[in-house]
Amino acid sequence: MGVMASMLEISGLRKSYHNLVAVDGVSFRAGQGETVGLLGPNGAGKTTTVSIIAGLIRPDAGEVRIAGRAISSDTDPAKQSIGLVPQDLGLYDQLSARENLRLFGALYKMSGAPLRHAMDEALDLVGLSERAKDRVKEFSGGMKRRLNLAAALLHDPQLLLLDEPTVGVDPQSRNAIFDNLESLKKRGKTLLYTTHYMEEAERLCDRLVIIDHGKIIADDTLQGLHRRFCAQNLLTVELEDGELSIDELLIDGLSIDALRQVPGVESVERRGHSLRIGVRDLARDSAAILQWLAERGQHVQHFASERTSLETVFLTLTGRSLRD
Ligand SMILES: Nc1ncnc2c1ncn2[C@@H]1O[C@H](COP(=O)(O)OP(=O)(O)O)[C@@H](O)[C@H]1O
Ligand SMILES: [Mg+2]
Repeated sequence: MGVMASMLEISGLRKSYHNLVAVDGVSFRAGQGETVGLLGPNGAGKTTTVSIIAGLIRPDAGEVRIAGRAISSDTDPAKQSIGLVPQDLGLYDQLSARENLRLFGALYKMSGAPLRHAMDEALDLVGLSERAKDRVKEFSGGMKRRLNLAAALLHDPQLLLLDEPTVGVDPQSRNAIFDNLESLKKRGKTLLYTTHYMEEAERLCDRLVIIDHGKIIADDTLQGLHRRFCAQNLLTVELEDGELSIDELLIDGLSIDALRQVPGVESVERRGHSLRIGVRDLARDSAAILQWLAERGQHVQHFASERTSLETVFLTLTGRSLRD
């Protein structure tokens, strides 16, 4: 794959609030049509970064380039190519969906037929055409999120900044939002997707930028992250709940530490009668592990494998869970 032209390029962004450094030298890029996940726990600096890109916050240092051009002022025309779906909903409950969109359109100086057309298209994309005349106060949390997405699309931006767009959303609406984002991806939009849900990032993103304490700690494809930071596969081996429990397994000197020494084993974790074992090569390593257990008189009752998740990657990188 060739290097895509940059839609977004940020370098050396810094922002402090009094003594607190919220964003501490953040640099990354997003190619045209690429979906980049900005992933990090609460307080990592995601919203501050996104707000700087959107021009809502002035950084202490650093530069934001959109389609190759540095953004120089609040009125820079390049800002027209950015759509922001903020973390906090910005909707008027007493107004209808359409009336809300009209207000957003006015922010982009849109009116008349072009605005009507844009509103129809955005409502259609997020699946709210039927509810356009209903007041927002009658909407579910998920519908409000979808309307907020529609609002960010009115001026047909090339770059969409999405700041935790699924927080507080029911599973059905979450799926709808994902479908919407996937169709925007297909239309060639560049997406910067901020989240602390790993499974979302795994589903949607081409590349992941992991941020913690205001610093980028990883920037890679999903595959690249797996390759670099953790075992490819997680085996769950359930041992027979019989005479030999795992505790006895340990007493017998067949310790977890010994299992860790088996070639191919990256990690071992015990959960009741199950062992969760990280391995790199599923076929080769599981055979060796099963044999190792059999040689020690262990009967395997159940055996399953799954790909390790980004959660594991994140734990490896930061020593803490994304959901903390
Ligand atoms: N307006 C503000 N004043 C003071 N501190 C702030 C402000 N906005 C954010 N912070 C702090 O900056 C850090 C990063 O916040 P934020 O960018 O919102 O993180 P995230 O979106 O990843 O949860 C946090 O410690 C937060 O408390
Ligand atoms: Mg945030």
